[in-house]
Amino acid sequence: MQSDSGNTVSVWMGTSKMPTFAALEEDLSCDVCIVGAGIVGLTAAYHLVRAGADVVILDDGPVCGGETSRTTAHLSCVLDDRFQWLEHVHGEQRVRESTASHMAAINRIESIVREEGIACEFERVPGYLFLGKRESPQFLDRELEAAKRAGLTDARRLERAPGLPWDSGPCLEFPMQAQFHPLKYLASVTRAIVAGGGRIFTGTHVDSIEGKPRRPQVKTRNKSVVTASSVIVATNSPISDYVETHVKMAAYRTFVIGAHIPKNSVPRALVWDTDDPYIYVRTTPLDDANDVLIVGGEDHKTGQKDDAPDRFRRLEEWTRRRYPMVQSVEYRWSGQVMEPADGFAMIGPNPDGAENVYLATADSGQGMTHGTIAGILLADLVRGKENPWAELYDPGRKSLGAIKDMLRENLNVAVQYTDWITPGESSFEDIPLGEGRLVRMGAHKVAAYRDDRGLLHLRDATCTHLRCIVDWNSAEKSWDCPCHGSRFSPEGRVLNGPALADLAPVSADVADRAGRRVHDEDVKERSRPQSQEDRYDR
Ligand code: FES
Repeated sequence: MQSDSGNTVSVWMGTSKMPTFAALEEDLSCDVCIVGAGIVGLTAAYHLVRAGADVVILDDGPVCGGETSRTTAHLSCVLDDRFQWLEHVHGEQRVRESTASHMAAINRIESIVREEGIACEFERVPGYLFLGKRESPQFLDRELEAAKRAGLTDARRLERAPGLPWDSGPCLEFPMQAQFHPLKYLASVTRAIVAGGGRIFTGTHVDSIEGKPRRPQVKTRNKSVVTASSVIVATNSPISDYVETHVKMAAYRTFVIGAHIPKNSVPRALVWDTDDPYIYVRTTPLDDANDVLIVGGEDHKTGQKDDAPDRFRRLEEWTRRRYPMVQSVEYRWSGQVMEPADGFAMIGPNPDGAENVYLATADSGQGMTHGTIAGILLADLVRGKENPWAELYDPGRKSLGAIKDMLRENLNVAVQYTDWITPGESSFEDIPLGEGRLVRMGAHKVAAYRDDRGLLHLRDATCTHLRCIVDWNSAEKSWDCPCHGSRFSPEGRVLNGPALADLAPVSADVADRAGRRVHDEDVKERSRPQSQEDRYDR
């Protein structure tokens, strides 16, 4: 399938086909407009359509063309922030509720798979948490106790994970976790939405969401307007909220390899270590002869490193040392993870008070379960139905602002603004075909990309969200913002929020100084680019 979020191809993209839809070309009215056709938007739509609501979904890429296609789809109630830390931040009761909500999400996926008859390789598997380089065996004992207090009374400590071709050392076992092929699942969910009367439009970029008192309006780049009783913003990083959610989470890139291995040569299980960033492992069936071993890790903050080949190499070394049956590495991809300050996703009313606008974000590396929780919870909220998870995931909750990690993340963001005064790394002549570089032009930095024909595409390197300087991501061929994770195509088209606007064109003066082979559309007379503030109107 096609992806709109990068250059690399995940095992899911390479082994599935998603339904396609036309762009929206007219004004519409509906009960619920959902912006974003990933797991959150599709799950919410599925539940709403079944409840009889008239639903319209808009996405600027194809269905599941964003981060949903880049997950590794571990379905787990074992949050990667670890139970001990979550208990410290939220207390026992809240962690118990959170754990139960993730288990409920897995159960709901299982019941949808069964009811819709979806062939998506869903299966229950155990999860194993083993020690990384930093933690002692006592860490596992403390984690086991915290897991039991969180409600996982059947968790247990083992001396090594059973069946693995390497010695994991002591580990915790969590029964009844699960795995599936996320795109095969969501392709069927999409068809069920359409069969139930839901309308889906792709290639439709949303320019603004106006939280009117009674009927919010969603306005698209091609000037269509969808008026709805409620709007759900399911865009991974919210485009309905300018600041508040974005200072309570941080964007990370995570890296994954997929290797062919002989069928059933590795036991089906979810495997994680305790490091930060941590390694995560699973398998997925490929054909009669082979499975794919999927190994992820090596995370870094979005836009703050560009060394993907080293990260893929280290993942492959780690894997080959432990899994001698690896035949060949066929997939290398990366994805974006939004890490909330307190470890729980933000799902609920838009925190700036826009009426009847709801959002879901901060997947915290548990995108499939947090995404399913969001779909269930938001479908209830827009229908005015009580849901026991509403307080737990409220984007306005206090715990999000109360911990030290948030201060550290925001200091890190503040440091990124020094990119304004550090030199650009390159000159126009140095840019190879198919690559991008930052080039300083007087007081400005230019995001310069040379396409495969040698034509230069020039854009102002200032992120259109809050004016950090973007940086080149050579693995995904994108411009990534180090502050809150916005991403742009090589030509400057916005791919991922919170930015709504494309990178601004450069002045004719800058283009002249770059030479003759400059793409015309990137050049405009010097004028103030449309600011993002202008695009939020409520
Ligand atoms: Fe916030 Fe770029 S994403 S400044």
